[in-house]
Amino acid sequence: MILTDPDEKPSILVVEDDEQLQTALSHTLGGHGYAVAVVSDGYEGMDWLEHHGACLVLADINLPGKSGLDMLRDIRLAGNQVPVVVMSAYASVESAVQALKLGASEFLEKPFPAEKLEEVIARIKGGEPVLKPNCSTKIDDESEFVGFITRNERVQQTLKTLETVAVSQATILIQGESGTGKEVLARFVHRHSPRVNQPFVAVNCAALPEGLLESELFGYEKGAFTGALARRCGKFELAHQGTLLLDEIGEMTLALQAKLLRVLQEREVDRLGSRTPVKVDVRVIATTNRNLIQEVQAGRFREDVYYRLSVMPVTIPPLRERPEDIEVLVEHFAHQSFQRNCRVSAGITAEAMSYLKTRRWRGNVRELENVIERAVLLSGTGSLHMEHFAVEEPVMTSPTPSLQPTGSIWEMERDLIFRVLDQHGGNRTHAARTLGISIRTLRNKLREYRQLNGGVSLDV
Ligand SMILES: Nc1ncnc2c1ncn2[C@@H]1O[C@H](COP(=O)(O)OP(=O)(O)OP(=O)(O)O)[C@@H](O)[C@H]1O
Ligand SMILES: [Mg+2]
Repeated sequence: MILTDPDEKPSILVVEDDEQLQTALSHTLGGHGYAVAVVSDGYEGMDWLEHHGACLVLADINLPGKSGLDMLRDIRLAGNQVPVVVMSAYASVESAVQALKLGASEFLEKPFPAEKLEEVIARIKGGEPVLKPNCSTKIDDESEFVGFITRNERVQQTLKTLETVAVSQATILIQGESGTGKEVLARFVHRHSPRVNQPFVAVNCAALPEGLLESELFGYEKGAFTGALARRCGKFELAHQGTLLLDEIGEMTLALQAKLLRVLQEREVDRLGSRTPVKVDVRVIATTNRNLIQEVQAGRFREDVYYRLSVMPVTIPPLRERPEDIEVLVEHFAHQSFQRNCRVSAGITAEAMSYLKTRRWRGNVRELENVIERAVLLSGTGSLHMEHFAVEEPVMTSPTPSLQPTGSIWEMERDLIFRVLDQHGGNRTHAARTLGISIRTLRNKLREYRQLNGGVSLDV
């Protein structure tokens, strides 16, 4: 963490994982008399805000741990109205809309010159946010968590069962392809449980390397390892009396699974570096897009942990197995999107609806939601027509020709990486998995493209 004048106000919190940009931003902002705190992901960012506060947050969307958008959502859900400027190098209509929807003050597409940043800050200081539409951007819990929309009988049956099970402390395992609504279902359980007014804490087990995930989950004492400057509570403790969502549990290493088993059995956690266990009362919900039984058979997932987690196993079918859900989801997302853009609901043509019903939805409900959002933006003031759905995948700008290494394999790889990133809404963890490469490799490649593209043009 780079820090200048920690006690000085006003302070700006920069949430950015790119070291070059971290330095550039703290330079620019520091030069303008701000105290600057720099952290590299949303978890650290939330931690910082909780303990020190800030007068402005500048957050990248694509981060190794909690994304800038997830952080923004948590900030607003906590009732914190601090202005948040969101930055992204892979600006898509979806990510800008999402940022706006979550209450961002501004959206900055990287790379941007220092003056642009100064302009934005001046505007926010003057109380003149640009992205704000006429209607309120405040997150409304009710509209954010509408419940699990479905007309599918099998899923409706599952919802009924879950409502009953929600009152207990039983661990629930939710399986389903990416984008099928696993997190929505987890929140559904929390909302129907007696824990509804207690925290709902989510941890993405795929986003962090083993050591970090361990300290994230279990916390640590001051001095437990180099860099542990102060005691920190883990997510189990933070979720005390509430619900802990262990997202993408299939990615957890066997060693960590052993530690998880102990918590699930004993209901107490050992902070790293501590000898005194802490009792926790937590309802655990785990999700996975892998087939965990197969993972057990392949020796990649512990059988005992599997049985502990799957006290109540639930599988959400992919959208192609519940076509009757498409119409109701389209209507729901269209309605939401019209509202968000301060427009009268203009409906959708029969032709467009039948196209959506027959289209392949590899990204399941998440893809459908994005397609509708884009169509609403493209439709101007009228209803949604076929033409608003016939959009090519966005083409990313190529590096400057003179700097571009020749060789089609390099180009194909780069194009593929950008396309997959885009399909995952800029989520590097998911994109890396789809591409079959490590997140580190992905980050290195993106850095390489950025450098070839002239690098970050912050002139400091
Ligand atoms: N049944 C549903 N009703 C309303 N919204 C839904 C439903 N299912 C999914 N969504 C929306 O679709 C998007 C994806 O859902 P969610 O994040 O829960 O999927 P997921 O299965 O956890 O995906 P991943 O495996 O990629 O993490 C979210 O924006 C969510 O609000
Ligand atoms: Mg999820």
